[in-house]
Amino acid sequence: MSTLSVDQEPVDLYQPSSAALAAATIKNRAEQTQIAAGNLEGFWAERASEYEWFEPWEKVLDDSRAPFYQWFVGGKVNIVANCLDRHCSTWRRNKLALIWEGETGEVRTYSYHALNREVCMFANVLRSMGVHKGDRVTIYMGRVPELPVAMLACAKIGAVHSVVYGGFSVEALHERIEDSQSNVVITCDGGYMNGKIVELKKISDEAIRRAGSVEHVIVVKRTAHEVPMESGRDYWYHDLMSLPVARTASGNSRCETEVMDAEDPLFMLYTSGTTGKPKAIVHSHGGYMVGVGTTLKWVFDLKEEDRWWCAADPGWITGHSYIVYAPLLLGATSFMYEGAPTYPYPNRWWSMIEKYGINVLYAAPTAIRGLMRFGEAWPNRHDLSSLRLLGSVGEPINPEAWRWYYRVIGKERCPIMDTWWQTETGMFMITPLPETSLKPGSATFAFPGVEADIYGENGQPVGPGEEGFLVLKQPWPAMLRTIYNDPDRYVQQYWSRFPGVYFTGDSARRDSDGYFWIIGRVDDVIKVSGYRLGTAEIESALVSHAAVAEAAAIGLPHDIKGNAIHAFVILRSGAEYTDQLINELKAHVVHEIGPIANPERIEIVQQLPKTRSGKIMRRVLKARALGLPEGDLTTLEE
Ligand code: WT7
Repeated sequence: MSTLSVDQEPVDLYQPSSAALAAATIKNRAEQTQIAAGNLEGFWAERASEYEWFEPWEKVLDDSRAPFYQWFVGGKVNIVANCLDRHCSTWRRNKLALIWEGETGEVRTYSYHALNREVCMFANVLRSMGVHKGDRVTIYMGRVPELPVAMLACAKIGAVHSVVYGGFSVEALHERIEDSQSNVVITCDGGYMNGKIVELKKISDEAIRRAGSVEHVIVVKRTAHEVPMESGRDYWYHDLMSLPVARTASGNSRCETEVMDAEDPLFMLYTSGTTGKPKAIVHSHGGYMVGVGTTLKWVFDLKEEDRWWCAADPGWITGHSYIVYAPLLLGATSFMYEGAPTYPYPNRWWSMIEKYGINVLYAAPTAIRGLMRFGEAWPNRHDLSSLRLLGSVGEPINPEAWRWYYRVIGKERCPIMDTWWQTETGMFMITPLPETSLKPGSATFAFPGVEADIYGENGQPVGPGEEGFLVLKQPWPAMLRTIYNDPDRYVQQYWSRFPGVYFTGDSARRDSDGYFWIIGRVDDVIKVSGYRLGTAEIESALVSHAAVAEAAAIGLPHDIKGNAIHAFVILRSGAEYTDQLINELKAHVVHEIGPIANPERIEIVQQLPKTRSGKIMRRVLKARALGLPEGDLTTLEE
């Protein structure tokens, strides 16, 4: 380790270990970056040729309708043919695709053969329920193996899955079911989290009652506690799987994989934006497959003999790309854990790394900080020597947490891949490779073929050390294709701030060595424990309570969560401040959105700072809360 002086601050530079370098798929990033810069289409075509296509593409990138870019145009493919079918005709049918451990301790494993069989049978079930190519299916489950099975079964038959994170609650789920116009919802009787049962079926029932379009509900039995089942609408997963509907007419458990256009939608995933309702980001079969497979292979050097653990939830993009699709594309073994990192004790993660011999761990800074709090003794009781690489995602990792992760978990042997990306990008965009010299807290450089820059207000690149808007100047295969049912919003949100350039919504700076440092969101998105929430969602949950007239939500720094939600509320006349009311408001937000949206603090105020046109000035609230200068107040109406 050496110390450099960058922008006047000393920053540690961590050189790659010789072991990491020796194992690296890509030993010379600069060379790859140059190849991609010289011939973007050729670069991605070479990556795409590692997968099986029913029919080859005619054109790698069609930009004639930009920003509605198209990739691998004319190609016929199905991502599941590459995740499962392909492996099942080789020796790999007999290796583990998925290892799962429940919070309560049970273990389930699936070989590629077994996973494929389960997916085929469930795909047959879905077809028997009238689910066709292009139909949307909402999946609202805990972290159980049937969740990837359901996703893969949808993709196999060309249905578009819309997974809603199992930590969301009634209104968040209702909105997402309704917007996606799903007729089928797949859920669980409940899920285990932190020793308690999450009432997934009860929440689904209430959301479905609000939505009204749902015809069938398929329920996976996880907790076996009593749940109401509505006859003619609700079916047990295990019942369906044992019926003839799970099989072909001739009685076998196979299922034909649907031939898709490369550009056909694979899934949609809701995420929070600046204003109003969450928007459904749409990803495709072809480009997404090439993007996630390539990035996992290059960034984490994932090999088929590896056991990989992405500790995210499958309900977020991290889980879609890097628990489910990419590891299976690479023929690796993906480990999935159901519950809380500290249940029943703070060594749970470390004991599982030892037990399963995990080679690569990919986790969020909030989890690292949460575990760091319990001290080194917990990880030190376990043999973590199987680890080769570590990863971080979801928010900037503070150098203190980075160093702890590096020293205590990686024993100074394992480089940390701090990957910057988004639901929209589908794949890692700014990230180290194992050969990169690391600076704690920096996501380092753009992936080969990705062109990232930092713009000032005027759309001109800023100089070294200066903060500005992070933008992407070139399309990439796993990019979002549109916002479901709202192409105008797609153009408006991502391609209009600086014409022709993708606007990320993040601010960043680059140091004099060219390293990117992500600072945070510049819009009304709050990252709480790495989860993405919109101020608008929290505010609308608050004002849906009878006592609330107006509300404003902001994010303030928090030691473990990164940011915590602080809300300011104007009460309706007649409503009176009590501690009980505050607790009731918090419980209301949790009931409507979910525990992740629980405000740290709710303050009752008489008025809110607004512009003359009536928009709440959240930046003023934030500055006041932090005791910082309030900035330009010329538009303030107060
Ligand atoms: C936002 C996207 C990407 C999968 C999980 C989050 C923040 C993400 C990093 C990182 C600093 C990060 C950004 C981004 N973010 N990764 N390595 N360093 N910030 O996906 O929920 O769509 O959130 O997460 O603010 O815009 P998401």
